[in-house]
Amino acid sequence: MLEITVNNTIHQLDIEPDTPLLWVVRDELKLKGTKFGCGLAQCGACTVHLDGKAIRSCVTPVSAVAGRSITTIEGISPSSERSTANPSAQLHVLQEAWIEQQVPQCGYCQSGQIMSAAALLEANPKPSDDDIDRVMTGNVCRCGMYGRIRKAIHSASAKLEHRTPKAIEIDIAPTTSDREQETSNG
Ligand code: FES
Ligand code: FES
Repeated sequence: MLEITVNNTIHQLDIEPDTPLLWVVRDELKLKGTKFGCGLAQCGACTVHLDGKAIRSCVTPVSAVAGRSITTIEGISPSSERSTANPSAQLHVLQEAWIEQQVPQCGYCQSGQIMSAAALLEANPKPSDDDIDRVMTGNVCRCGMYGRIRKAIHSASAKLEHRTPKAIEIDIAPTTSDREQETSNG
């Protein structure tokens, strides 16, 4: 039995430990906002947060996240990063910006894009174009909305109060030592 916390809710799962987190989120927990794209950590459609860091859930075994906190697109709002212009809004500031800039086209990539952007703004509330391009390059948009995504991130950034930047951490999968530690922890 594995215990994971998703969007602040604890779940007990009777599941194979090497099951990808993406399958757990979508098929076990029925949170369908996180998408399957490539299954190879190449497209970013499956991006979720693990303890606040963006990870690719398609290549993350569920055993690696036991006892840790997962956030999916369904859990990003309401959040601590609400719009300063409208503090009572229930959307994440990035979701507001996404709507304002009309970013989604087919929409398939968008939850992953927002999750990566949220991790970026958490680490760096005032990113430059280069910062955005560097972090968001792993999130593919077949509809080519990269320009609007960049504008939306800048727009969201403008709504946030200044905070002290810290190192940007984007992982595509847990390290071997992470998995060994999780295994030793049971
Ligand atoms: S599905 Fe493409 S990175 Fe996970
Ligand atoms: S909006 Fe269609 S793939 Fe990004």
